Amino acid sequence: VVEIRFVGPADRDALLELRARAFGPLGGKLRERVLPLVERDFAEQRVLGVYDGARLIASGRFLPMEQWWHGGAVPTGGVASVYVAPDERGKGIGARLAAALIELVGARGRPLSALYPATVPVYRRAGYEHGGAEYWTTFRTEALRGLGGGPAGDVKIRQVGPDDAAEVVAVLRAVHAAAGDCGPLDRGEPFVRWTLDDPDLFAYLADDGFIAYHWSDDLSELVVERAIAGSAETARALWALVGSGSSTAETVRARVAPYDPLLWLLRDHSGARLYRSSWMLRVVDAQAAIALRGFPAAVSAEASLIVDDPLCPGNAGGWRLVVAGGSGRLERDAAAAGRSGAVRLTARGLAAVYAGVPPATLGRAGLIDGGGDDIAALAAAFAANPYMLDDF
Ligand SMILES: CC(C)(COP(=O)(O)OP(=O)(O)OC[C@H]1O[C@@H](n2cnc3c(N)ncnc32)[C@H](O)[C@@H]1OP(=O)(O)O)[C@@H](O)C(=O)NCCC(=O)NCCS
Repeated sequence: VVEIRFVGPADRDALLELRARAFGPLGGKLRERVLPLVERDFAEQRVLGVYDGARLIASGRFLPMEQWWHGGAVPTGGVASVYVAPDERGKGIGARLAAALIELVGARGRPLSALYPATVPVYRRAGYEHGGAEYWTTFRTEALRGLGGGPAGDVKIRQVGPDDAAEVVAVLRAVHAAAGDCGPLDRGEPFVRWTLDDPDLFAYLADDGFIAYHWSDDLSELVVERAIAGSAETARALWALVGSGSSTAETVRARVAPYDPLLWLLRDHSGARLYRSSWMLRVVDAQAAIALRGFPAAVSAEASLIVDDPLCPGNAGGWRLVVAGGSGRLERDAAAAGRSGAVRLTARGLAAVYAGVPPATLGRAGLIDGGGDDIAALAAAFAANPYMLDDF
């Protein structure tokens, strides 16, 4: 008989065995770094297991995080490490697990959920939709070095380690909030401390910026995991610091925003290609997800919505969306269905609208249905091109 319950330390080896069959074995340095996190996940009841009697046949992990949406940090449940034993695949277990993970995210008070899909259908079925992406590009190290000098020379930068985590988190928060960024994650101080505790990661902090990078596995290039800056001077100084490695690394691979200021700072970036890997979003509690995010201050908009969401019944039914003065709210509206122009959305349509996918696209993909002013209001209120600077 199949049952879903939390996985504990007694099943650690069974969990690692499932992982090995799904994604390959966890070995070497990564294993040493990750095992303490796994123990903490057990202690905090963040790993769900599907059991056939005593046998662990599938599992998935919940990660608490916040996601920036236009100046508001929205509590989000990351979903990762989803594994089904090879001999149990194709029987609906992945779908049941996805539903149970969404319920867990909701129970932990997180109105959004996000994940990087290895396979899309299982998550679409659970109401997730492509929301944004992680973008990587490659620069010539020498071009970054060229950003240095001039006014950038005055920016104060210092090397940081695990004991500086609180300060790093404060700078990241201040820059993302001020810029109204959409998509980047705030994974909290303990997590940042853990990342900075990696001796192979080189991290530097300025008053309004941060950069973290390391060598690629084959030592052929430098890899920038995260670089953010609140001003052009700081951006120049931080990128030029990585660029100073041009004598030993010809190229720098970097995770960037699709509209990263760096692309406009470089003298010549016409060759910059962005490689994207998509993440998916699920709205678990629509009312809270709208109330906690920010909206463009210049937009005043209203729309009638009718949401169809069997898995999260709290989202379903008629709503009036009101956006003004940089914030928004959803009010219950039992009469929404009778209003002309009311927009009908599936759970997937709602997630995609929230993430800024143009409603015109979603209409033509069959995920939302409606027209006129209400659609135009959604387009203006939610317009965004969200990205993450994390992978999980
Ligand atoms: C992906 C995985 C979790 C799916 O679990 P599962 O129990 O086989 O999935 P289900 O039987 O519940 O199928 C759910 C849906 O996903 C689809 N699906 C399952 N495996 C798929 C695959 N490899 N490629 C594309 N679609 C797939 C099914 O067809 C089904 O879609 P439908 O409802 O439209 O028919 C499982 O195959 C697995 O562990 N794979 C290796 C690890 C992995 O990729 N994990 C995902 C991490 S993000």
